[in-house]
Amino acid sequence: MTDITNAPQDRVQIFDTTLRDGEQSPGATMSHDEKMEIAGLLDEMGVDIIEAGFPIASEGDFAAVSDIAKNAKNSVICGLARANFADIDRAWEAVKHAPQGRIHTFIGTSPLHRDITALDQDGMVEKIAATVSHARNLCGDVQWSPMDATRTEHDYLCRVVETAIKCGATTINIPDTVGYTAPRESADLIRMLLERVPGAEKIVFATHCHNDLGMATANALAAVEAGARQIECTINGLGERAGNTALEEVVMAMRVRNDIMPYRTGIDTTKIMHLSRRVSQVSGFAVQYNKAVVGKNAFLHESGIHQDGVLKNVQTFEIMRPEDIGLTAKNIAMGKHSGRAALRAKMAELGYDLGDNQLKDVFVRFKALADRKKEVYDDDLVALMADSSAGDEHLKVQKLRVVCGTEGPQEAELTMSVGGEDKYVDATGDGPVDACFNAVKMLYPHSAKLDLYQVSAVTEGTDAQATVSVRLSRDGTVYTGQSADTDTVLASVKAYVNALNRMHAGQGRANNSALQTSAAG
Ligand code: KIV
Ligand code: ZN
Repeated sequence: MTDITNAPQDRVQIFDTTLRDGEQSPGATMSHDEKMEIAGLLDEMGVDIIEAGFPIASEGDFAAVSDIAKNAKNSVICGLARANFADIDRAWEAVKHAPQGRIHTFIGTSPLHRDITALDQDGMVEKIAATVSHARNLCGDVQWSPMDATRTEHDYLCRVVETAIKCGATTINIPDTVGYTAPRESADLIRMLLERVPGAEKIVFATHCHNDLGMATANALAAVEAGARQIECTINGLGERAGNTALEEVVMAMRVRNDIMPYRTGIDTTKIMHLSRRVSQVSGFAVQYNKAVVGKNAFLHESGIHQDGVLKNVQTFEIMRPEDIGLTAKNIAMGKHSGRAALRAKMAELGYDLGDNQLKDVFVRFKALADRKKEVYDDDLVALMADSSAGDEHLKVQKLRVVCGTEGPQEAELTMSVGGEDKYVDATGDGPVDACFNAVKMLYPHSAKLDLYQVSAVTEGTDAQATVSVRLSRDGTVYTGQSADTDTVLASVKAYVNALNRMHAGQGRANNSALQTSAAG
C-alpha cells in the first residue's frame, strides 16, 4: 500500500486520471467492464493513485468508481467532487470501499472562475474551508485543487492553499487547467508555494498539466524539480482538448534521464505498451504514429543512416530499449498451424490474460485470419482483441457482397441476422462503406447519429488488417464499436454493428462531458 507521508524525497507518486480527465474528453467513453479492466491494469502497473471517475456525474460513474474501489489491490482509489457537500458525500460513498480511498475536491480560483461562481475572495475561502473540512471528516486522504491555479493571483493562491491545508487537505494539486503555463513558470509556482505557504512542508504538492501548447510533460517535470511529488497524468495523454500529461512520457523521461532528473516512480514500465494499446482500443482514440514512447514509429528506423547505425550499435539512435516499455520484437508471431496453447502463451506475452471462453473465441478468429493472411504479426493479434463484439449479439453480419465500380453508386448486398432471424437487403450509397451502412440501417432502423468513423492499418502491406472504430450517439448517450479485418469494408460494417449491439443492450455511456467541462477541465 502506498505510504505517501513517509515517501523518500526522490519518490514521485503517479496519479493516473485516464478514467476521469481522460474519459472526460468528448467521445472517449468507456463501458463499465472496460473501466474495470483499465483500472486493474493500472493497479498492476504500480500507479499510486487511480482517479476512477466523478461519482456524482451519473449512476454509471458512481458504479464504476465503487466497483473499482472494491477491486483495488495496491492503488489508492480517488473520486472527484466539486466544492459542495453532495458531491463530496457521493465521492466518499464510492471510494470508501477501497483499501485506501481518496476524495479529490476542487474549485476554480482564478478571477474568471470566481466570476462564474459569483463568489468574492472571502466567500470562496469560506467555501473551501467548509468543503475541505467536510471531506476530511469523512476521509483521512483528501486532495484539494484550485482549478486554473496557473491563472490565479499569487497572493490569493497562497491564501486558498493555506486554508485547504489548515482544514485537512493532505495533497494540494496545482492544475494548469487550460495548458497555459511554461516550464520555468510551472517550477516557480511550486517553489513560491513551498516558500510562502505555512504548513506546505507537511503535504504533497501535485502537478496537473494540460497539453494545449504541447508543454504538459515539460511543465510536469519542471514542477517536480521544484518540489512537487505527485504527477497527474493519463495513458497516451488522453484528456480534454489537447489532453493531459502523458504517463508514459514523464515516467520514461525520469527513467532515461535519471542523471539529471534523479526521481523514482513505482511504475513497472514493461506494462506501458499494453496499457497504451488497451486505452486506445477502448476509448477509440488512435495513438499518433510519431507519439513519444508509445507511437508506432517510436522505435522504427527507416532511413539508411539510422538503420546502419542501429545495426552496428543499437544505442546510436535508441535511447530506450523497446522491451523496457513491453514492446516485443516485431516478429512473425504465429502461423496457421499454431495451436491454442501457443496462442494463449503468445497473448500472455502481449499482456492479455485470456480465460477459456475468450481463448476459444480468439482462437477461431485467429485461425480465420491465418488462413487469409500470410504472416500474422503481434500487432495483428492485438488488433483481434480490438473486436468489441459480444457473445450473444442481437445483430450479426452473415453475408456481405459489395459491388464497386468507377461509376457510382456503390451497392451492398447484406444478409444480417436481427434477433435471430436472417434478413436480406440490397442498398446503394456514396462509396462502399456508405452503401453498407445504409444496408444495416434498412435492416435495423434507428435514430443514432454517426459521430466518428475511423480506420487505421495494423501492419504494412495490402493484406494488412484494418482496425475500425465507430462511435454513435443517441439522446445524449454514446455507443462505441470496434472491429478488425483484412477486409476494410467488412471491418467497418462489423464495427458499426458492434456499436448498434451495444445500443440495443443499453451498454452506452451518458455523454456528460458538458456537465463535467463546466466543472472540471
Ligand atoms: O484541469 C483541471 O483543473 C482539473 C481539475 C479537476 C483538477 O482536471
Ligand atoms: Zn484536468
